[in-house]
Amino acid sequence: MASFTRVEEGETPCITVHPTNKIAKVDDNIYGGFTEHMGRCIYGGIYDPGNPLSDENGFRKDVIEAMKELNVPVVRYPGGNFVATYHWLDGVGPKENRPARPELAWIGTETNEFGTDEFMKWCEVVGCEPYICLNFGTGTLDEALAWLEYCNSDRNTYYANLRRKNGREKPYNYWALGNECWGPWQVEQMTKEDYAKKAYQWAKALKLLDPSITLILCGATGSSSWDYHVLKECVRWDSHGLNTISKSLIDMHSIHIYTADSEHLANATAPRSAERAIQMTSALIDLARIENQVPATVPKQKICFDEWNVWDPVRAPGEQGAEERYTLSDALAVAVWLNVFVRQARDVGMANLAQSVNVISPLLTSRDGLVKQTIWWPLLLFSRYMRGHAVALNVRAPEYAGRTNPPWIRAAIETPFLDCSATVGDDGYVNLAVANLSEERGFDVALEGLKTDGEVAVFTVSGDNVHVTNTAEEQKVGIAESTWDGKGKFTFGKHSFTLLRWKPA
Ligand code: AHR
Repeated sequence: MASFTRVEEGETPCITVHPTNKIAKVDDNIYGGFTEHMGRCIYGGIYDPGNPLSDENGFRKDVIEAMKELNVPVVRYPGGNFVATYHWLDGVGPKENRPARPELAWIGTETNEFGTDEFMKWCEVVGCEPYICLNFGTGTLDEALAWLEYCNSDRNTYYANLRRKNGREKPYNYWALGNECWGPWQVEQMTKEDYAKKAYQWAKALKLLDPSITLILCGATGSSSWDYHVLKECVRWDSHGLNTISKSLIDMHSIHIYTADSEHLANATAPRSAERAIQMTSALIDLARIENQVPATVPKQKICFDEWNVWDPVRAPGEQGAEERYTLSDALAVAVWLNVFVRQARDVGMANLAQSVNVISPLLTSRDGLVKQTIWWPLLLFSRYMRGHAVALNVRAPEYAGRTNPPWIRAAIETPFLDCSATVGDDGYVNLAVANLSEERGFDVALEGLKTDGEVAVFTVSGDNVHVTNTAEEQKVGIAESTWDGKGKFTFGKHSFTLLRWKPA
């Protein structure tokens, strides 16, 4: 939670941190990832058998190291749009028996060489939890129940035994009721009425089979009539019905937004639309609960922002693998995205960067190495330090007043040049994240609430200009580390992201 006061040019900007005013726990799952059978995300990304950089499972070791460095807690799989024609049984058992199938989301061929067990194994090696998205396109409820049984059941039943035969014991928690079922690009696009009816019935059956799972409803952008309708129909409470098998049938509501613009300030301020979308979704969840008289004892459904990033699908088309080359401007946009999730910690239960490798990703693999793109660096700093509790913050700064993308941002939410969030970690340190979006100027900022007996650790991500990129040959954007004595004003350089970290006195 942050309040913003616009000041005129010439007035001193000021950031006031209130380390003792905790707002909400930052869920570690906001640093989640996403691996889809799309482009080079799985094949040639996380899975590259025969490559000297891969381990005995065919998993790229450099990618695993990067995932560990990022401390990714949860990864969504197997799509995305891909899942709408995916039959999970094609991807288990002996590899030589697995069928190759036409793939209709990105118009390719799916060899099924990598499937559920390979993904579960990869998650185990990385140290993250799997989050599975069910096929709401050509898939059936029987097939979904069989997948859940295969993954989770400890009973002596057919699919549970098949899993054991394929070498695994452990159950898995997160399950999504389809992906972007509203989109015209979907195989079996649905109306909101049809989706809500189907999702509620599937949710009942899935929770009867395993009441312990976290079930995630398929929302849209968080600010649409689809979101309103599916929440109203599915976030229900019937004291005589199947809700008694668990706290509620629906545990989270998923939304997706990608932002991008060719002009820097429209690009870097675009994630503010996601902040407003979170606020709107939270209100729609409240509304559904009020209208359906869901008792206050039932925990409020959290938002699962299970696809987010900077992506322009014209610049990097999905059918061509969506390999975005990210600039410093995009890195600042990602810093704003992450500030949004920290500020909205009360409502966001999970967020999944789309995607983890090669496809719209901070990581680009080649046969002989890995490039860490510009957006990797703010992501790494956030994941390392911006955990614990979000704390209250007041920002006085000049505001960007130009064109926004989408245009409705301008009337809905402010766009300060200094975009900030703050946390107090479980280690007691205060962490302040500040993205200075101005291309023109640094700001000398008075920092109120900064009291320390020691030094302030300073981590900065910047570059020569907002257009610079990282390549295999040249890393133009990385992290510069320094210290500051905490006295006087701090200068946030132009087009920079800074993380300040101190132990309070
Ligand atoms: O992440 C790329 C694609 O974007 C996903 O498959 C889809 O869900 C979204 O439209």
